[in-house]
Amino acid sequence: ILSGDAYPLTPNPHPATDSERAALMADPVFGKVFTDHMARATWSGGMWSDRGVMPLEPIPMHPGAAVLHYAQQVFEGLKAYRHPDGSLQLFRPAMNAERMIDSALRLAMPPLPVDDFLAAVAALVQADAQWVPQQEGGSLYLRPYLMATETSLLVQPSDTYEFVVTASPVGAYMGGGGGVSIWVSRGFHRANEGGTGDAKTGGNYAASMLPQQLAKENGCSQVLFLDAKEDRYVEELGGMNLMVVFGDGSVATPRLTGTILPGITRDSVMTLLADAGRPVRERDIELEEIREGVASGAIAEVFACGTAAVVTPIGELKSDDFALTVGDGEAGPVATWVKKELTDIQYGRAEDPYGWMVRV
Ligand code: COI
Repeated sequence: ILSGDAYPLTPNPHPATDSERAALMADPVFGKVFTDHMARATWSGGMWSDRGVMPLEPIPMHPGAAVLHYAQQVFEGLKAYRHPDGSLQLFRPAMNAERMIDSALRLAMPPLPVDDFLAAVAALVQADAQWVPQQEGGSLYLRPYLMATETSLLVQPSDTYEFVVTASPVGAYMGGGGGVSIWVSRGFHRANEGGTGDAKTGGNYAASMLPQQLAKENGCSQVLFLDAKEDRYVEELGGMNLMVVFGDGSVATPRLTGTILPGITRDSVMTLLADAGRPVRERDIELEEIREGVASGAIAEVFACGTAAVVTPIGELKSDDFALTVGDGEAGPVATWVKKELTDIQYGRAEDPYGWMVRV
């Protein structure tokens, strides 16, 4: 399945020279550097066609294209890693393919078959193999997305779609090893029951930008959202899930209520912790419980996890009416352990007992 054979490479790539590429890859800002190619497929006439890898180039669109008006769009994020044996490996790519199907169905879009998703991603990584970073913590971030391209201002599902995958060499999404500051959003929510919170669609991220800006203005690097119904339970950050570690060693994470993105890193972290004898409880977690627990020391660690963020310790929690340092404000032992376990598998430094890595 993961063969690029069905995807002949373009005869006209736009390669950077080795030195240009090295300069671009030295310390890339997340998502600002793109490789030479992209993968594409088109939905029209009720079927997928025109699958292929081609040079990265602008996508001409009619100004009336549906995605530009009503945001009928879904996306994914996954990474390719360079292993010590030289192979290039994807982390749990089928989970991204399956999640994109779930997201597409929520947005009334045609699901792209899992095999097409996997083949497109693999073919792009093969075409841009020189762009997979060597350096510690580096990886090739793949951004598959699906968008409505019909020229129509009717609020109805498009009859044509474009599937695109781009690739970007990346380092860490947020800061280094220390704890980051989180701003708890009051008044703005990310998602509500029956909405699109558990779909990976651009609109969710658009809605997070103003609260994210407020977080920045208050000296925080990320925003944490509370549930929209009661304004009481923690849900997720602007683009990552949340984990809470208690002093007795137990771990909890908000349960998937339909308003939270089912993160693949979230699932992987839960598996690693469970297999190390620390089952993660999925439950409702009140902000008040976190406030009291952090203040009293009953909560030892709070961390975020996601494909881009990997595992990011949270050192500080703030809002209009409180500011708390979590533990000593630095990475705690559980976050440090789980990050190492996860990245050892991703970078091929340890056995992969789960069969998570897929060679391209
Ligand atoms: C990811 O972790 O892949 C995300 O989608 C988070 C963010 C960059 C949107």
